[in-house]
Amino acid sequence: MYTQAMDTMARESGAKLEKVLSPDEQRLQERFDARIDAGDFIEAKDWMPENYRKTLLRQISQHAHSEIVGMLPEGNWIGRAPTLKRKAILLAKVQDEGGHGLYLYAAAETLGQSRDEMLGALHSGKAKYSSIFNYPTLTWADIGVIGWLVDGAAIMNQVPICRCSYAPYARAMIRICREESFHQRQGYDSLLVMMQNGTPAQKAMVQDAVDRWWWPCLMMFGPPDDQSPNSAQGMRWGIKRVSNDTLRQKFVDATVQQAQVLGVTLPDPDLKWNEARGQHDFGTIDWDEFWRVVGGDGPVNRERLGARVKAWDDGAWVREAALAHARRQQTKKEAA
Ligand SMILES: [Fe+2]
Ligand SMILES: [Fe+2]
Repeated sequence: MYTQAMDTMARESGAKLEKVLSPDEQRLQERFDARIDAGDFIEAKDWMPENYRKTLLRQISQHAHSEIVGMLPEGNWIGRAPTLKRKAILLAKVQDEGGHGLYLYAAAETLGQSRDEMLGALHSGKAKYSSIFNYPTLTWADIGVIGWLVDGAAIMNQVPICRCSYAPYARAMIRICREESFHQRQGYDSLLVMMQNGTPAQKAMVQDAVDRWWWPCLMMFGPPDDQSPNSAQGMRWGIKRVSNDTLRQKFVDATVQQAQVLGVTLPDPDLKWNEARGQHDFGTIDWDEFWRVVGGDGPVNRERLGARVKAWDDGAWVREAALAHARRQQTKKEAA
């Protein structure tokens, strides 16, 4: 599990700790380590190592960015939903994602960065969000597949974070996971209706969406464990509880049967049950594509970030009005 890079990092931070920490800080560090080992939760007011704070801040803010950027591809389809029922469901789902962003920004703020700073980093392209949202939503079936597979993969990733050692993050995740399970089910249900009662063209549309989303969804779990140098430190700190490859395998195993019930084929000729392992084998993921999309060169990276910045700019008057209202209330209160 420990790669060369991780060993180097551990040695460097070890050396730095010896040099920089005062005896008091050493004691705090030891107490912190013991609490993590005992499975304790860390609260915002507690002492924590600087790298733990920075790692969490990066992870939680990226997670928050993913929630609000994820609203964009689905928001595009609210006005084009095929029935009133599907429109109401999609509207509720997209609103949930906005709420997830808010819980997570609030959790990240407890680590000492303002929401404006985090959004500034997102809008300037400095901060990342999940690469899955750099793929386009071409048809209505994409919306069902996002619910089934993207939210399904998100649940697999996020359930272990409900036990994250940083309590404000863990608390936010408990509520988020409940809502994600509705997202997954509404997506699957909308696909099931098309596959059971739809026309041949609608069934083909579902299969086409599955073909395009399957591999990017497997990439959502991150690079393979042996190429994921920060994972070990995340595990040590109780931020990460389950490895990328383990979560990916669980997702594949859970999804195969759902695909059978749905009547779609997962686009992987190497996907088959391995009796000896008691798990499915699956084909090789195109990690070049993964790094290309993470690096900013995915199908719709520029368009997505552009839409996000435009939404922020277009909302300026709302923020100004809310501030003006708050100032007037304050003046009234002081005058009373
Ligand atoms: Fe969400
Ligand atoms: Fe969701």
